[in-house]
Amino acid sequence: MASPRNILYALGTALYVSAYAAAVPLDIGVDVCLPFGIQVGLFIDLFEPPQITEVVPIFATATTTVPSAGVYTVPSGTSVATVTAHEASEMCITSVTTKTTTYPCSTSTSFTTTWWDPCISSSSTGTCRWTPPATSAPTTITATVTATITESATSCVPTTPTATLSCDPYGYLIQYATLYRVDLTTGDTTQVSTGLGDNTSINSIGYNVLDNYIYGYQSSTGTILRISADGTTVTIDADSPPAGSNIGDVDTNGHYWVGTETTWAQIDLAPGSATYGQTLANGTTSTLGYAVADWVYIPDAGEYMYAVGSVSSMNETALLRFDLSTHEWESVADYGALGVIGVGAVYGMNNGTLYASENGNGQIWQFPVSGDTPFEVSQGPASGNNDGARCVLNLLA
Ligand SMILES: *[C@@H]1O[C@H](CO)[C@@H](O)[C@H](O)[C@H]1NC(C)=O
Ligand SMILES: *[C@@H]1O[C@H](CO)[C@@H](O)[C@H](O)[C@H]1NC(C)=O
Ligand SMILES: *[C@@H]1O[C@H](CO)[C@@H](O)[C@H](O)[C@H]1NC(C)=O
Ligand SMILES: *[C@@H]1O[C@H](CO)[C@@H](O)[C@H](O)[C@H]1NC(C)=O
Repeated sequence: MASPRNILYALGTALYVSAYAAAVPLDIGVDVCLPFGIQVGLFIDLFEPPQITEVVPIFATATTTVPSAGVYTVPSGTSVATVTAHEASEMCITSVTTKTTTYPCSTSTSFTTTWWDPCISSSSTGTCRWTPPATSAPTTITATVTATITESATSCVPTTPTATLSCDPYGYLIQYATLYRVDLTTGDTTQVSTGLGDNTSINSIGYNVLDNYIYGYQSSTGTILRISADGTTVTIDADSPPAGSNIGDVDTNGHYWVGTETTWAQIDLAPGSATYGQTLANGTTSTLGYAVADWVYIPDAGEYMYAVGSVSSMNETALLRFDLSTHEWESVADYGALGVIGVGAVYGMNNGTLYASENGNGQIWQFPVSGDTPFEVSQGPASGNNDGARCVLNLLA
C-alpha cells in the first residue's frame, strides 16, 4: 500500500518556500478506502501533509563572438556538437537546468482530487483539507537536477550572468532609482541598492518567476531593465514599453504587462522564447475613472492584472482588475471610504491576496482578491515615484 503522504498533492495554491516557477503534481493512484483522512462535511481532513512537487527551471547563458559565417564546435556538456553561424555574430547558448523538489506542505491548503476507491469499485472525488500543526516548517525531501540545453544564434543579451533573486517572501519596492526589500508583515524595509540603471526614474517593476529577475521600465531611455538580486541592472534588447509607463508586472508565462492608466503592452520576456523582447499585443484602455499606479498577476485568481484604484476627491477605494483577454478594466469591489488613497505599489501572493502600499502614509494593506474586506497589516515606508514587485509563487508572509 502506498504511504498516504505519497498519494495526494496540492496544486497551485500550495506553492511556497523559495524559487519556484511551476508546479507539477505527482500522479499516484490509491488502493485503499479513505486511508488518508477523515471526512468532515464536504471536506476530507488529511492525516498527513500533502506532497508538493515543484519544477524550477534555472537558466544560464553563455555568449561567444564568432568572426564570420561557419560551423562552430560547441563546448562539451551541451546537447548538440556544433552550431552554424550565418554571419559574424554573437552565438548564445542557453542551458536550462530543471531542479525538482518534493516536500510536505506546511501551510493550510485545500484542493480537489480524485482517487480510486476499491470499496465502491470506482473513482471518487473530494475536497481535501490540510491544516498544519502550529510548529510545522518547510522541509525539503528530495532535490534532483537534470539538464537540457537549447541554443540560439540570435544576439545574446545577458553577456555576464548576474545574480538571480530566490523567490523569497519579500516585496520589492523601487523608489526613483533605489530598490528596497520590504517585509510586508512587519513593514520593515532595507535598501538593496541605489543608483540603479542610469540613476533616473525606474517604474513598472515586475517579478519574472521564469528566471527570478525583476524587470522595470526606465523612462529616460524608454528601455526595459533586468534587475538582479544585488541591484545590478542590464538593459534588455526589447521593444519599448508605452511612454511614461508606471504600471507593470510579469505573468507566469513570462509576459511583461506594462503601461499607464490609458495604455498597455504585453512584451515577451520568457527566456528562450522565439519572440523574446517583442511586443505581443498593445492598445489603449481606461481605468473606469480610478487612479491606478501598479498591478499584479496572481495565477490562482485567473487571467487578470489586479490593482487598487482610488478617487481621492471622493475618498473612494476599489479593487479593480484588467482582463488579459478583453484588455478592459472591471471593478471587483468598491469599498467606498476605506481611507486607502494613492496606492503606488502592489504585491501579489498566489493564495488570492494582494498587498498594497499607500504612498502618502506608508500603510500596507491586505486585499483578498475575492473582494472581501481589506485590512491594514503593517506600517511601511511612505514613498512616491514608486512601484512594487514580488515573487507571487511564494506563499510565506
Ligand atoms: C543618483 O542621483 C542622486 C540625485 O538624484 C544622487 O544623490 C546620487 O548620488 C546618485 N547615485 C549614484 C549612485 O550615482
Ligand atoms: C503599439 O506598438 C506599436 C509598435 O511599437 C506602436 O507604434 C503603437 O503606438 C503602440 N500602440 C499603443 C496604443 O501603444
Ligand atoms: C476617508 O475615509 C476614511 C475612512 O472612513 C477616513 O478615516 C478619512 O478621514 C477620510 N478622508 C477624508 C479626506 O475625508
Ligand atoms: C494568504 O496568506 C497570507 C499570509 O499567510 C494570509 O495572511 C492570507 O490570509 C492568505 N489569504 C487567503 C485568501 O487565504
